[in-house]
Amino acid sequence: MPFLGVQLKRGVKQHLYLQLYQQIKKAIAQGQLKEGQKLPAIRLMAEQLNLNNVTVVKAYQLLEEEGLVIKKVGSGTYIAPLAGRGGDWVLAEEEIELMNQGQISLQSDIINFATATPDPELFPIDDIKVAINYVLDRDGGKVFGYQDSQGYRPLRQAIEDYLARQEIKSQAKNIQVVSGAQQGIDILAKSFLDYGDVVFAEEPTYPGAISAFKSRGARIVSIPIQEDGLDIETLEARLAEYRPRFLYVMSTLQNPTGYSYSEEKKKRIIELSQRRNLTIVEDDSLSELYFKGQAERSLKSFDTAQQVIYIKSFSKIFLPGFRIAFMVMPDEMTTKTIAAKHLSDIFSSSLIQRTFDRLLREGLWEQHLGGMREIYRQKYLFFSRLLEEHLAGLLQYRLPVGGLNFWLSLPAGISSSRLFKYSQVEGVSFAPGSIFFADGKANRFFRLSIASLEKEQMVKGIEILTRVCRKLINEGGKKGEIRYTPLL
Ligand SMILES: Cc1ncc(COP(=O)(O)O)c(C=O)c1O
Repeated sequence: MPFLGVQLKRGVKQHLYLQLYQQIKKAIAQGQLKEGQKLPAIRLMAEQLNLNNVTVVKAYQLLEEEGLVIKKVGSGTYIAPLAGRGGDWVLAEEEIELMNQGQISLQSDIINFATATPDPELFPIDDIKVAINYVLDRDGGKVFGYQDSQGYRPLRQAIEDYLARQEIKSQAKNIQVVSGAQQGIDILAKSFLDYGDVVFAEEPTYPGAISAFKSRGARIVSIPIQEDGLDIETLEARLAEYRPRFLYVMSTLQNPTGYSYSEEKKKRIIELSQRRNLTIVEDDSLSELYFKGQAERSLKSFDTAQQVIYIKSFSKIFLPGFRIAFMVMPDEMTTKTIAAKHLSDIFSSSLIQRTFDRLLREGLWEQHLGGMREIYRQKYLFFSRLLEEHLAGLLQYRLPVGGLNFWLSLPAGISSSRLFKYSQVEGVSFAPGSIFFADGKANRFFRLSIASLEKEQMVKGIEILTRVCRKLINEGGKKGEIRYTPLL
Protein backbone atom coordinates (compact mmCIF):
# COMPACT_ATOMS: atom_id res chain seq x y z
CA MET A 1 0.00 0.00 0.00
CA PRO A 2 1.62 3.34 -1.03
CA PHE A 3 2.22 5.94 1.66
CA LEU A 4 -1.13 7.42 2.83
CA GLY A 5 -2.80 5.93 -0.23
CA VAL A 6 -1.07 8.47 -2.49
CA GLN A 7 -2.23 7.98 -6.05
CA LEU A 8 -0.51 9.68 -8.94
CA LYS A 9 -1.95 10.08 -12.41
CA ARG A 10 0.42 9.51 -15.28
CA GLY A 11 -0.02 11.01 -18.74
CA VAL A 12 -1.77 14.14 -17.41
CA LYS A 13 -0.55 17.73 -17.74
CA GLN A 14 0.38 18.14 -14.07
CA HIS A 15 3.89 16.96 -13.18
CA LEU A 16 4.19 13.94 -10.87
CA TYR A 17 6.25 15.85 -8.31
CA LEU A 18 3.48 18.50 -8.07
CA GLN A 19 0.85 15.80 -7.59
CA LEU A 20 2.92 14.22 -4.82
CA TYR A 21 3.58 17.57 -3.17
CA GLN A 22 -0.13 18.47 -3.23
CA GLN A 23 -1.25 15.15 -1.78
CA ILE A 24 1.21 15.36 1.10
CA LYS A 25 0.26 19.00 1.69
CA LYS A 26 -3.40 18.02 1.82
CA ALA A 27 -2.65 15.24 4.31
CA ILE A 28 -0.85 17.80 6.50
CA ALA A 29 -3.70 20.30 6.27
CA GLN A 30 -6.24 17.61 7.15
CA GLY A 31 -4.21 16.42 10.12
CA GLN A 32 -3.44 12.93 8.70
CA LEU A 33 0.23 13.83 9.00
CA LYS A 34 1.06 15.27 12.37
CA GLU A 35 3.77 17.56 13.65
CA GLY A 36 7.06 15.67 14.11
CA GLN A 37 6.00 12.66 11.98
CA LYS A 38 8.69 11.37 9.63
CA LEU A 39 8.10 11.15 5.88
CA PRO A 40 9.35 7.96 4.16
CA ALA A 41 12.95 8.15 2.98
CA ILE A 42 13.31 9.37 -0.59
CA ARG A 43 14.38 6.03 -2.02
CA LEU A 44 11.60 4.16 -0.25
CA MET A 45 8.92 6.64 -1.36
CA ALA A 46 10.24 6.48 -4.93
CA GLU A 47 10.12 2.68 -4.92
CA GLN A 48 6.62 2.54 -3.45
CA LEU A 49 5.24 4.92 -6.04
CA ASN A 50 7.38 3.72 -8.90
CA LEU A 51 8.99 7.11 -9.29
CA ASN A 52 12.39 8.52 -9.98
CA ASN A 53 14.24 9.66 -6.80
CA VAL A 54 14.48 13.18 -8.28
CA THR A 55 10.68 13.44 -8.44
CA VAL A 56 10.40 12.77 -4.70
CA VAL A 57 13.27 15.16 -3.94
CA LYS A 58 11.47 17.95 -5.85
CA ALA A 59 8.19 17.33 -3.99
CA TYR A 60 9.95 17.36 -0.61
CA GLN A 61 11.81 20.51 -1.59
CA LEU A 62 8.56 22.34 -2.34
CA LEU A 63 7.15 21.27 1.03
CA GLU A 64 10.30 22.49 2.71
CA GLU A 65 10.17 25.85 0.92
CA GLU A 66 6.66 26.32 2.29
CA GLY A 67 7.81 25.51 5.79
CA LEU A 68 5.61 22.41 5.92
CA VAL A 69 8.47 19.98 6.52
CA ILE A 70 11.95 20.18 8.00
CA LYS A 71 14.94 18.29 6.70
CA LYS A 72 17.32 16.97 9.38
CA VAL A 73 20.70 16.08 7.97
CA GLY A 74 21.43 12.36 8.28
CA SER A 75 18.01 11.66 9.80
CA GLY A 76 15.22 12.40 7.31
CA THR A 77 12.31 14.72 6.55
CA TYR A 78 9.79 15.58 9.29
CA ILE A 79 6.45 17.42 9.43
CA ALA A 80 7.15 20.94 10.74
CA PRO A 81 5.62 22.30 13.96
CA LEU A 82 2.43 24.31 13.37
CA ALA A 83 3.87 27.66 14.45
CA GLY A 84 6.75 27.50 12.00
CA ARG A 85 4.66 26.87 8.92
CA GLY A 86 4.24 29.37 6.12
CA GLY A 87 1.09 31.37 5.48
CA ASP A 88 -1.15 29.19 3.37
CA TRP A 89 -0.75 25.81 5.04
CA VAL A 90 -4.13 26.02 6.70
CA LEU A 91 -6.32 25.95 3.58
CA ALA A 92 -7.04 22.52 2.18
CA GLU A 93 -6.91 22.09 -1.57
CA GLU A 94 -10.68 21.54 -1.83
CA GLU A 95 -11.26 24.73 0.08
CA ILE A 96 -9.14 26.76 -2.33
CA GLU A 97 -10.79 25.02 -5.29
CA LEU A 98 -14.25 25.91 -3.95
CA MET A 99 -13.26 29.52 -3.35
CA ASN A 100 -11.93 29.83 -6.88
CA GLN A 101 -15.37 28.85 -8.03
CA GLY A 102 -16.78 31.61 -5.84
CA GLN A 103 -17.98 29.30 -3.09
CA ILE A 104 -17.05 28.59 0.47
CA SER A 105 -18.06 25.72 2.75
CA LEU A 106 -20.03 26.93 5.76
CA GLN A 107 -21.54 25.45 8.88
CA SER A 108 -25.22 26.36 9.14
CA ASP A 109 -24.93 28.77 12.09
CA ILE A 110 -21.76 30.54 11.00
CA ILE A 111 -21.61 34.34 10.78
CA ASN A 112 -21.09 34.76 7.10
CA PHE A 113 -18.91 37.71 6.04
CA ALA A 114 -17.85 35.64 3.03
CA THR A 115 -20.75 36.16 0.69
CA ALA A 116 -21.74 39.40 -1.01
CA THR A 117 -25.16 37.97 -1.88
CA PRO A 118 -28.25 39.99 -0.99
CA ASP A 119 -30.60 38.82 1.71
CA PRO A 120 -33.56 36.91 0.11
CA GLU A 121 -35.88 38.66 2.58
CA LEU A 122 -35.31 41.82 0.55
CA PHE A 123 -36.46 40.42 -2.79
CA PRO A 124 -39.58 42.17 -4.18
CA ILE A 125 -41.66 39.02 -4.53
CA ASP A 126 -45.05 40.75 -4.91
CA ASP A 127 -43.89 42.99 -7.76
CA ILE A 128 -42.31 40.02 -9.49
CA LYS A 129 -45.52 37.97 -9.25
CA VAL A 130 -47.50 40.81 -10.80
CA ALA A 131 -44.96 41.30 -13.59
CA ILE A 132 -44.81 37.57 -14.41
CA ASN A 133 -48.60 37.33 -14.59
CA TYR A 134 -48.76 40.43 -16.75
CA VAL A 135 -46.22 38.96 -19.19
CA LEU A 136 -48.01 35.60 -19.37
CA ASP A 137 -51.38 37.27 -19.98
CA ARG A 138 -49.92 39.56 -22.61
CA ASP A 139 -47.64 37.14 -24.54
CA GLY A 140 -49.15 33.70 -23.82
CA GLY A 141 -47.31 30.74 -25.34
CA LYS A 142 -44.81 33.01 -27.16
CA VAL A 143 -43.01 33.32 -23.84
CA PHE A 144 -41.98 29.68 -24.09
CA GLY A 145 -40.88 29.51 -27.72
CA TYR A 146 -37.33 29.86 -29.02
CA GLN A 147 -36.01 33.42 -28.89
CA ASP A 148 -33.32 35.64 -30.30
CA SER A 149 -29.85 34.71 -28.93
CA GLN A 150 -28.91 38.36 -28.57
CA GLY A 151 -31.82 39.00 -26.22
CA TYR A 152 -35.49 40.02 -26.23
CA ARG A 153 -35.52 43.14 -28.41
CA PRO A 154 -37.84 45.32 -26.26
CA LEU A 155 -35.61 44.56 -23.26
CA ARG A 156 -32.53 45.62 -25.22
CA GLN A 157 -34.34 48.85 -26.05
CA ALA A 158 -35.27 49.39 -22.40
CA ILE A 159 -31.61 48.79 -21.50
CA GLU A 160 -30.56 51.39 -24.09
CA ASP A 161 -32.77 53.95 -22.27
CA TYR A 162 -31.50 52.83 -18.87
CA LEU A 163 -27.91 53.31 -20.09
CA ALA A 164 -28.69 56.76 -21.48
CA ARG A 165 -29.67 57.75 -17.93
CA GLN A 166 -26.16 56.63 -16.83
CA GLU A 167 -24.60 58.81 -19.57
CA ILE A 168 -23.70 55.73 -21.63
CA LYS A 169 -24.51 55.88 -25.33
CA SER A 170 -25.51 52.53 -26.75
CA GLN A 171 -27.77 50.94 -29.34
CA ALA A 172 -29.94 47.85 -28.95
CA LYS A 173 -27.91 46.22 -31.74
CA ASN A 174 -24.78 46.33 -29.54
CA ILE A 175 -26.45 44.94 -26.43
CA GLN A 176 -26.11 41.26 -25.60
CA VAL A 177 -28.35 39.88 -22.87
CA VAL A 178 -26.62 37.17 -20.82
CA SER A 179 -27.56 34.89 -17.94
CA GLY A 180 -25.45 36.73 -15.37
CA ALA A 181 -22.22 38.70 -15.69
CA GLN A 182 -20.25 35.51 -15.12
CA GLN A 183 -21.66 34.08 -18.33
CA GLY A 184 -20.80 37.35 -20.08
CA ILE A 185 -17.15 37.07 -18.99
CA ASP A 186 -17.06 33.42 -19.99
CA ILE A 187 -18.49 34.22 -23.42
CA LEU A 188 -15.84 36.89 -23.95
CA ALA A 189 -13.15 34.42 -22.94
CA LYS A 190 -14.53 31.76 -25.29
CA SER A 191 -14.95 34.12 -28.21
CA PHE A 192 -11.81 36.20 -28.10
CA LEU A 193 -9.04 34.43 -26.18
CA ASP A 194 -6.57 31.96 -27.61
CA TYR A 195 -4.17 29.82 -25.64
CA GLY A 196 -1.27 31.99 -24.41
CA ASP A 197 -3.07 35.33 -24.89
CA VAL A 198 -2.37 37.89 -22.21
CA VAL A 199 -5.13 39.47 -20.11
CA PHE A 200 -4.37 42.40 -17.81
CA ALA A 201 -6.33 42.45 -14.56
CA GLU A 202 -6.36 44.54 -11.43
CA GLU A 203 -4.64 43.05 -8.40
CA PRO A 204 -6.56 42.02 -6.37
CA THR A 205 -9.53 41.16 -8.56
CA TYR A 206 -12.71 39.12 -8.95
CA PRO A 207 -11.69 35.42 -9.03
CA GLY A 208 -14.59 34.33 -11.27
CA ALA A 209 -13.14 36.41 -14.11
CA ILE A 210 -9.62 35.11 -13.61
CA SER A 211 -10.87 31.51 -13.68
CA ALA A 212 -12.82 32.15 -16.90
CA PHE A 213 -9.79 33.74 -18.62
CA LYS A 214 -7.46 31.00 -17.40
CA SER A 215 -9.86 28.31 -18.60
CA ARG A 216 -9.09 29.43 -22.18
CA GLY A 217 -5.34 29.19 -21.51
CA ALA A 218 -4.86 32.95 -21.07
CA ARG A 219 -1.97 34.32 -19.06
CA ILE A 220 -2.93 36.87 -16.42
CA VAL A 221 -0.70 39.89 -15.91
CA SER A 222 -1.70 41.70 -12.73
CA ILE A 223 -1.63 45.48 -12.35
CA PRO A 224 -1.89 46.76 -8.76
CA ILE A 225 -4.94 48.79 -7.87
CA GLN A 226 -4.53 51.89 -5.74
CA GLU A 227 -7.17 53.77 -3.76
CA ASP A 228 -7.95 55.97 -6.79
CA GLY A 229 -7.77 53.20 -9.40
CA LEU A 230 -5.30 51.23 -11.46
CA ASP A 231 -1.60 52.05 -11.07
CA ILE A 232 -1.18 53.81 -14.42
CA GLU A 233 2.61 53.78 -14.42
CA THR A 234 2.68 50.01 -14.08
CA LEU A 235 -0.05 49.73 -16.71
CA GLU A 236 2.05 51.75 -19.16
CA ALA A 237 5.17 49.73 -18.35
CA ARG A 238 3.30 46.46 -18.92
CA LEU A 239 1.83 47.78 -22.17
CA ALA A 240 5.37 48.34 -23.42
CA GLU A 241 6.03 44.64 -22.76
CA TYR A 242 2.78 42.91 -23.75
CA ARG A 243 -0.10 43.24 -26.17
CA PRO A 244 -3.01 42.19 -23.97
CA ARG A 245 -6.25 40.96 -25.50
CA PHE A 246 -8.21 42.59 -22.65
CA LEU A 247 -7.78 44.81 -19.64
CA TYR A 248 -10.36 43.62 -17.07
CA VAL A 249 -11.42 46.27 -14.51
CA MET A 250 -14.13 47.24 -12.05
CA SER A 251 -13.90 51.01 -11.99
CA THR A 252 -16.58 51.62 -9.34
CA LEU A 253 -16.62 49.98 -5.91
CA GLN A 254 -14.15 47.39 -7.06
CA ASN A 255 -14.47 43.82 -5.84
CA PRO A 256 -12.80 43.06 -3.41
CA THR A 257 -11.26 46.40 -2.35
CA GLY A 258 -14.27 48.72 -2.60
CA TYR A 259 -12.01 51.31 -4.28
CA SER A 260 -13.38 53.55 -7.03
CA TYR A 261 -11.34 55.14 -9.81
CA SER A 262 -10.95 58.89 -9.83
CA GLU A 263 -12.42 60.63 -12.86
CA GLU A 264 -8.92 61.69 -13.86
CA LYS A 265 -7.72 58.08 -13.94
CA LYS A 266 -10.79 56.98 -15.88
CA LYS A 267 -10.03 59.58 -18.54
CA ARG A 268 -6.35 58.62 -18.68
CA ILE A 269 -7.19 54.95 -19.10
CA ILE A 270 -9.66 55.72 -21.88
CA GLU A 271 -7.06 57.89 -23.60
CA LEU A 272 -4.49 55.09 -23.25
CA SER A 273 -6.94 52.50 -24.59
CA GLN A 274 -7.51 54.59 -27.70
CA ARG A 275 -3.82 55.29 -28.23
CA ARG A 276 -2.81 51.64 -27.74
CA ASN A 277 -5.94 50.06 -29.20
CA LEU A 278 -6.55 48.27 -25.91
CA THR A 279 -9.91 46.60 -25.33
CA ILE A 280 -11.19 47.16 -21.80
CA VAL A 281 -13.72 44.91 -20.11
CA GLU A 282 -15.52 46.94 -17.47
CA ASP A 283 -17.48 44.80 -15.00
CA ASP A 284 -20.07 46.73 -13.01
CA SER A 285 -22.08 44.99 -10.35
CA LEU A 286 -22.28 47.54 -7.53
CA SER A 287 -22.11 51.10 -8.90
CA GLU A 288 -25.62 51.98 -7.66
CA LEU A 289 -24.59 51.38 -4.05
CA TYR A 290 -22.61 54.58 -3.43
CA PHE A 291 -23.40 55.99 -0.01
CA LYS A 292 -21.14 59.01 0.11
CA GLY A 293 -21.08 61.75 -2.50
CA GLN A 294 -22.65 61.30 -5.90
CA ALA A 295 -23.09 58.39 -8.31
CA GLU A 296 -19.82 57.74 -10.11
CA ARG A 297 -19.70 57.70 -13.88
CA SER A 298 -18.56 54.43 -15.40
CA LEU A 299 -15.44 54.14 -17.53
CA LYS A 300 -17.80 53.26 -20.38
CA SER A 301 -19.49 56.66 -20.14
CA PHE A 302 -16.17 58.28 -21.23
CA ASP A 303 -15.65 55.83 -24.09
CA THR A 304 -16.02 57.55 -27.46
CA ALA A 305 -14.27 54.96 -29.63
CA GLN A 306 -15.88 51.66 -28.64
CA GLN A 307 -12.84 50.54 -26.68
CA VAL A 308 -14.86 49.43 -23.65
CA ILE A 309 -17.01 46.32 -23.31
CA TYR A 310 -19.39 47.14 -20.48
CA ILE A 311 -20.85 44.25 -18.45
CA LYS A 312 -23.67 45.02 -16.06
CA SER A 313 -24.89 42.52 -13.50
CA PHE A 314 -28.11 42.94 -11.56
CA SER A 315 -27.30 40.14 -9.13
CA LYS A 316 -26.02 42.19 -6.20
CA ILE A 317 -28.62 44.90 -6.39
CA PHE A 318 -31.59 42.84 -7.49
CA LEU A 319 -31.98 39.07 -7.67
CA PRO A 320 -28.98 36.79 -8.18
CA GLY A 321 -31.35 33.95 -9.05
CA PHE A 322 -32.88 35.89 -11.96
CA ARG A 323 -29.59 35.33 -13.81
CA ILE A 324 -29.92 38.49 -15.84
CA ALA A 325 -27.15 40.78 -17.00
CA PHE A 326 -26.07 42.40 -20.25
CA MET A 327 -22.99 43.46 -22.17
CA VAL A 328 -22.51 46.46 -24.45
CA MET A 329 -20.27 45.28 -27.27
CA PRO A 330 -18.20 47.16 -29.86
CA ASP A 331 -19.69 46.80 -33.38
CA GLU A 332 -17.04 44.44 -34.72
CA MET A 333 -17.35 42.07 -31.76
CA THR A 334 -21.13 41.57 -31.68
CA THR A 335 -21.42 38.74 -34.23
CA LYS A 336 -18.92 36.50 -32.46
CA THR A 337 -20.57 37.19 -29.12
CA ILE A 338 -24.03 36.26 -30.38
CA ALA A 339 -22.62 33.02 -31.82
CA ALA A 340 -20.92 32.17 -28.51
CA LYS A 341 -24.09 32.91 -26.54
CA HIS A 342 -25.98 30.60 -28.91
CA LEU A 343 -23.43 27.85 -28.28
CA SER A 344 -23.61 28.35 -24.50
CA ASP A 345 -27.37 28.17 -23.88
CA ILE A 346 -29.06 29.47 -27.08
CA PHE A 347 -30.72 32.34 -25.19
CA SER A 348 -31.44 33.54 -21.66
CA SER A 349 -34.86 32.58 -20.26
CA SER A 350 -37.53 34.45 -22.18
CA LEU A 351 -39.88 34.62 -19.18
CA ILE A 352 -37.16 36.25 -17.10
CA GLN A 353 -36.16 38.67 -19.86
CA ARG A 354 -39.76 39.75 -20.44
CA THR A 355 -40.42 40.08 -16.72
CA PHE A 356 -37.30 42.16 -16.24
CA ASP A 357 -38.27 44.30 -19.23
CA ARG A 358 -41.62 44.98 -17.57
CA LEU A 359 -39.97 45.85 -14.23
CA LEU A 360 -37.53 48.22 -15.94
CA ARG A 361 -40.19 49.97 -18.04
CA GLU A 362 -42.62 50.39 -15.16
CA GLY A 363 -39.91 51.94 -12.98
CA LEU A 364 -40.40 49.09 -10.48
CA TRP A 365 -36.79 48.15 -10.69
CA GLU A 366 -35.65 51.68 -9.77
CA GLN A 367 -38.19 51.75 -6.95
CA HIS A 368 -36.85 48.47 -5.58
CA LEU A 369 -33.29 49.75 -5.98
CA GLY A 370 -34.16 52.82 -3.92
CA GLY A 371 -35.37 50.59 -1.06
CA MET A 372 -32.33 48.30 -1.28
CA ARG A 373 -29.96 51.27 -1.30
CA GLU A 374 -31.44 52.59 1.92
CA ILE A 375 -31.21 49.19 3.66
CA TYR A 376 -27.64 48.67 2.52
CA ARG A 377 -26.72 52.25 3.46
CA GLN A 378 -27.86 51.56 7.03
CA LYS A 379 -25.85 48.35 7.14
CA TYR A 380 -22.83 50.12 5.67
CA LEU A 381 -22.95 52.96 8.22
CA PHE A 382 -23.46 50.58 11.10
CA PHE A 383 -20.61 48.33 10.05
CA SER A 384 -18.26 51.26 9.34
CA ARG A 385 -18.79 52.42 12.93
CA LEU A 386 -18.17 48.91 14.25
CA LEU A 387 -14.90 48.70 12.37
CA GLU A 388 -13.75 52.03 13.75
CA GLU A 389 -14.68 50.97 17.29
CA HIS A 390 -13.07 47.53 17.22
CA LEU A 391 -10.44 47.23 14.55
CA ALA A 392 -8.97 50.70 14.02
CA GLY A 393 -5.38 50.56 15.24
CA LEU A 394 -5.34 46.76 15.05
CA LEU A 395 -5.79 46.30 11.30
CA GLN A 396 -5.41 48.51 8.26
CA TYR A 397 -8.32 49.40 6.02
CA ARG A 398 -9.83 52.27 4.14
CA LEU A 399 -13.59 52.75 4.37
CA PRO A 400 -15.10 52.46 0.88
CA VAL A 401 -17.60 55.08 -0.31
CA GLY A 402 -20.25 52.41 -0.63
CA GLY A 403 -20.91 48.84 -1.68
CA LEU A 404 -21.02 45.69 0.35
CA ASN A 405 -17.33 44.87 0.77
CA PHE A 406 -14.65 45.99 3.21
CA TRP A 407 -11.01 45.18 2.44
CA LEU A 408 -8.69 44.85 5.41
CA SER A 409 -5.11 43.86 6.02
CA LEU A 410 -3.42 42.17 8.92
CA PRO A 411 -0.01 43.36 10.10
CA ALA A 412 3.00 42.19 8.11
CA GLY A 413 3.79 38.55 8.70
CA ILE A 414 0.28 37.27 9.45
CA SER A 415 -1.60 35.43 6.78
CA SER A 416 -5.35 35.86 6.37
CA SER A 417 -5.65 32.15 5.48
CA ARG A 418 -4.58 31.49 9.02
CA LEU A 419 -7.08 33.99 10.40
CA PHE A 420 -9.70 32.31 8.19
CA LYS A 421 -9.11 28.88 9.67
CA TYR A 422 -9.03 30.11 13.26
CA SER A 423 -12.15 32.25 12.77
CA GLN A 424 -14.11 29.42 11.21
CA VAL A 425 -13.57 27.38 14.36
CA GLU A 426 -14.98 30.33 16.33
CA GLY A 427 -18.01 30.60 14.03
CA VAL A 428 -17.07 33.40 11.62
CA SER A 429 -16.31 33.12 7.92
CA PHE A 430 -14.95 35.62 5.38
CA ALA A 431 -13.06 35.62 2.08
CA PRO A 432 -9.27 35.31 2.53
CA GLY A 433 -7.13 37.49 0.26
CA SER A 434 -5.45 34.66 -1.62
CA ILE A 435 -8.54 34.01 -3.77
CA PHE A 436 -8.42 37.53 -5.21
CA PHE A 437 -4.82 37.29 -6.44
CA ALA A 438 -4.03 35.55 -9.72
CA ASP A 439 -1.07 33.70 -8.17
CA GLY A 440 -3.34 32.36 -5.37
CA LYS A 441 -0.62 32.73 -2.72
CA ALA A 442 -1.54 33.40 0.89
CA ASN A 443 -1.29 37.04 1.92
CA ARG A 444 -2.37 39.29 4.74
CA PHE A 445 -5.50 40.75 3.11
CA PHE A 446 -9.11 39.69 3.49
CA ARG A 447 -12.61 40.79 2.49
CA LEU A 448 -15.61 41.19 4.76
CA SER A 449 -19.00 41.39 3.03
CA ILE A 450 -22.01 42.61 4.89
CA ALA A 451 -24.74 41.95 2.32
CA SER A 452 -26.56 39.21 4.14
CA LEU A 453 -25.91 40.06 7.80
CA GLU A 454 -28.16 41.57 10.45
CA LYS A 455 -26.78 44.11 12.91
CA GLU A 456 -26.54 41.65 15.82
CA GLN A 457 -24.57 39.21 13.66
CA MET A 458 -22.22 41.99 12.60
CA VAL A 459 -21.57 42.91 16.24
CA LYS A 460 -20.95 39.32 17.29
CA GLY A 461 -18.84 38.62 14.21
CA ILE A 462 -16.62 41.66 14.70
CA GLU A 463 -16.12 40.83 18.37
CA ILE A 464 -14.96 37.33 17.45
CA LEU A 465 -12.74 38.57 14.63
CA THR A 466 -11.15 41.17 16.89
CA ARG A 467 -10.39 38.53 19.49
CA VAL A 468 -8.88 36.13 16.95
CA CYS A 469 -6.86 38.90 15.28
CA ARG A 470 -5.43 39.99 18.64
CA LYS A 471 -4.43 36.42 19.41
CA LEU A 472 -2.72 35.96 16.05
CA ILE A 473 -0.96 39.30 16.26
CA ASN A 474 0.34 38.50 19.74
CA GLU A 475 1.52 35.04 18.66
CA GLY A 476 3.08 36.37 15.47
CA GLY A 477 4.82 39.20 17.29
CA LYS A 478 6.26 36.97 19.97
CA LYS A 479 7.49 34.14 17.81
CA GLY A 480 8.40 36.20 14.76
CA GLU A 481 8.29 32.97 12.81
CA ILE A 482 5.44 33.49 10.38
CA ARG A 483 6.44 34.37 6.88
CA TYR A 484 5.05 37.38 5.10
CA THR A 485 4.39 37.77 1.38
CA PRO A 486 4.05 41.48 0.46
CA LEU A 487 1.62 41.76 -2.43
CA LEU A 488 0.26 45.28 -2.60
C1 LIG B 1 -17.25 41.68 -10.03
C2 LIG B 1 -18.23 40.60 -10.29
N1 LIG B 1 -18.52 40.28 -11.56
C3 LIG B 1 -19.40 39.31 -11.86
C4 LIG B 1 -20.05 38.61 -10.87
C5 LIG B 1 -21.02 37.54 -11.26
O1 LIG B 1 -22.28 38.12 -11.31
P1 LIG B 1 -23.57 37.38 -11.87
O2 LIG B 1 -24.32 36.87 -10.71
O3 LIG B 1 -24.31 38.46 -12.61
O4 LIG B 1 -23.11 36.30 -12.79
C6 LIG B 1 -19.78 38.91 -9.54
C7 LIG B 1 -20.42 38.16 -8.47
O5 LIG B 1 -19.99 38.15 -7.35
C8 LIG B 1 -18.86 39.94 -9.24
O6 LIG B 1 -18.56 40.26 -7.98
